[in-house]
Parts: sequence; structure tokens; C-alpha cells
Amino acid sequence: MSFFEYRQCVLHAEHVSLAEIGRNVGTPVYVYSAAAVRFAARTFRDGLHGIARKQIAFAVKANPNVAILRLLADESYGADIVSEGELRQALAGGIRAADMLFSGVGKTTGEMVAALDAGVGQFNLELEEEGVFLSSLAQAKGARACAVLRINPDVAAGTHPKISTGQSSNKFGVPIAEARAIYHRLSRLPGLMLRGIALHIGSQIRDLDRLEDAYAAAGALVAALRADGHAITYVDLGGGLGIPYRVEDQFPSPAEYGVMVERVTRGWDVTLMFEPGRLIVGAAGVLLTRVLWVKPGVERPHVIVDAAMNDLARPAMYDAYHDFAAVAPNGDRLVANIVGPVCESGDTFATAREIDAVSRDDLAVFHTAGAYGASMASTYNSRALVAEVLVDGDRYAVIADRGGTAKALARQHMPNWLAQSAAILQPA
Ligand code: LLP
Repeated sequence: MSFFEYRQCVLHAEHVSLAEIGRNVGTPVYVYSAAAVRFAARTFRDGLHGIARKQIAFAVKANPNVAILRLLADESYGADIVSEGELRQALAGGIRAADMLFSGVGKTTGEMVAALDAGVGQFNLELEEEGVFLSSLAQAKGARACAVLRINPDVAAGTHPKISTGQSSNKFGVPIAEARAIYHRLSRLPGLMLRGIALHIGSQIRDLDRLEDAYAAAGALVAALRADGHAITYVDLGGGLGIPYRVEDQFPSPAEYGVMVERVTRGWDVTLMFEPGRLIVGAAGVLLTRVLWVKPGVERPHVIVDAAMNDLARPAMYDAYHDFAAVAPNGDRLVANIVGPVCESGDTFATAREIDAVSRDDLAVFHTAGAYGASMASTYNSRALVAEVLVDGDRYAVIADRGGTAKALARQHMPNWLAQSAAILQPA
């Protein structure tokens, strides 16, 4: 189900024309559909209907905009956070600290204190020393921090190596073979309320068997920990379920995922936690861009758009595919490279791709850009930060502005010894 459809030959987000948003807000701009976010959130929850005790925490890193987080708070989603920044974003979005879990392989002291003070519901410990340190921090405050131990099950997720996290060579979690001993030592610390385990093996996962292997390993560990006398009440299964970026791509549905989870975790007698990110917001956003030039090339034309790798980094970072479509297609097709204005050849969205024929000033979109799009944007080449718009029915609003040069300059400072430099006093 798509919330981005052509009406009278113009692409709309719900009831709002993207031509209108392009005209009024400018480009590049991410455009999200609130209905699509709600739909994905409900579809995921519905897929887990067979699981009696569950908590769903949206992985904020996929899209930390406060308006998106508010939509998810309204759907009773908690938040999976990895930094103090995400903690503040999630609070601003209306998610209660008690409904947050703090993942993250390198939490700073300041971040742990901030999370304890805010009352974050659970810490996902990445290593033994972190647990020891957190215990002492909590104890000093007369508190006990709820925590689970993240294990590394040594399972290949079958996804891009840069977003695989569950193999023994990766930096995440403690080796599953050592988990029992570490758990035992951590369980005796006075400032911790250790209540279970967590795992997350990667992102954009297509093969449910990979997830099943990891979950089965977690199940065996739960049994072993119980045999050791520990009360295991929570297991965090992470996120990672992938989504189709190409029309022809086949991915397991949340319902199929739910059936697998129910089967594998039957009898665990725990509250299961889930941390979906991409699945909730990926299809809910497009990156709206304007064609600057169609430049003749030696092999084929370069369609130069006003969005660049700083706005949508995924193609440059992971060779990721995002469908490209004209907002008002004229029916013709063109084989071209799609590139941005940044001064690197890596600033390429597509090579030799057959696309809608576009020309200067036309609007177009990159589809399926709601996850890890705006959240990974930068100001490289001193470009403005990409703006964001939320559409909800026939309404829309700017939910993130561009920043721009004035803001960039406001956070930079000239050292006083350079302020009176000769170059300024005596311009050449
Ligand atoms: N939980 C943990 C501990 C994670 O590290 C992540 C993602 C998630 C949950 C959410 O995973 P999801 O359901 O979204 O797959 N920038 C990359 C994706 C990086 C994912 C990092 N961790 C991309 O654009 O493909």
C-alpha cells in the first residue's frame, strides 16, 4: 500500500500535490506521509498479535524528527535511543522515558547520567565494564538501573556488511559463549536490575531464517541462564526486518515475521521487545528534488538534481537503490546517470538507470527515503540541511527547516588572534 500516488498525472503525498510542496517549500525536501507511518506502525503491531507480552520501541536513528516521534508516541510506541540527543528528541516527541531503551555501543558517562536522571526504562549493556560502571552510577544515586545484556550470536544477517552487527567480528554485544559468565557477574551488582538479554544482528534483513537462527540462540541462552538461577523476564529481539526498495523486491511481511517469532519464542515466558526502524518509516518518505541540468555525457546524460549525497547518503554509503520518478511524468523514458551537485563522483544516486524523462526545473522524487535519509544528512559542501515536510490528509507543515549559512556561521567562531588578521586589514 502506497500513500504516494499519481492523481491527475501529478504525484501526491496523500491529498497534497508534491508540485505544490516543491513550489512552496523549495527543494530538496523530505516529504513524509503521516498515514503511512501510522499504517506501518499498526501493521507491525498487528503482525505480532500472537505475542501476549511485548513492547515496541521505534529505533529513533531511522528518523528522529519530533513530529514523526509524536505520531509513534500516539501509536503507543516507545523509543530505542543511542545517544543523549536521541533521548532529548524522543522526549520532545512525547515518548515517555520509561518507554525508552538505551542501546549504543559507546555510551558516555554524561549520557548514562542523563538517561538515569530522565528515568529511561532499560539500558542495553554492550560490555561487562559498562554494566559495572552503570551499577556504580546508579548506586551513587540510590537507584537500580534496569538492564539487559546484549549478546552477539555470531550469525550473518545476509545484508550489506556495513549494516551487519551480529557476527563475532563486529563490535556489538558480548560473545554468546561468554554471556553466561558475564551475566552471572553482572547479576550480583547492587546498582543493576538485570532482567534479560538483547540482540540485533543487522538491518535491511530479507531472510527470516537468519533472524530465526539468532533468536534460537537467544532462546538456548535464556534456558541456560534460568538453569543458573537467573530470573529472565525480558528479551529484546532488536530490529532489522527489511523493506522493498524496488517494486519487484520480495520481503517477508510483518505478519510472516510475527508467525516466526511466535513459533521460536513459544514457552520463553518473557516480555519480548522489538526495535524496528526502517520498517516503520522507510516507505513513508520521499526525497523531493528539482532537476538542475541535464548534462550531455560521453556515455549517457547526467541528470543533475539539487539533492546530493549530503541529503541522502545511502547510495554513496551502501550502493543503495532508491527508485527515481518524475512528479509529473510526460510518458517518455531516458537512460541516464542521476547525480547531485557535490564535488565527488560518489555523489551518484544511480548509474545507467532507465527513468522518467526529465528536463531542467522538473520535480522528481527518490522513493522509500523515510528511514536513514534526513537522519544521516549533513551540510557537506556547506550546503543547507535538507528540509522536511509532514503531510497528513490534506494538510502539510514544514517539520524541519534548512538551517542555512547563517546558522552554520553562528556556530563557528573566529579565534581572537585571527580576528584582526592582515588579510582583513589590508585586503589584496
Ligand atoms: N536496534 C539497534 C540496536 C540498531 O542498531 C538498529 C539499527 C535498529 C534497532 C533498527 O534497525 P532497522 O529496523 O531500522 O533495520 N544507515 C543504515 C542502517 C543502519 C542501521 C543501524 N542500526 C541504512 O541506511 O541502511
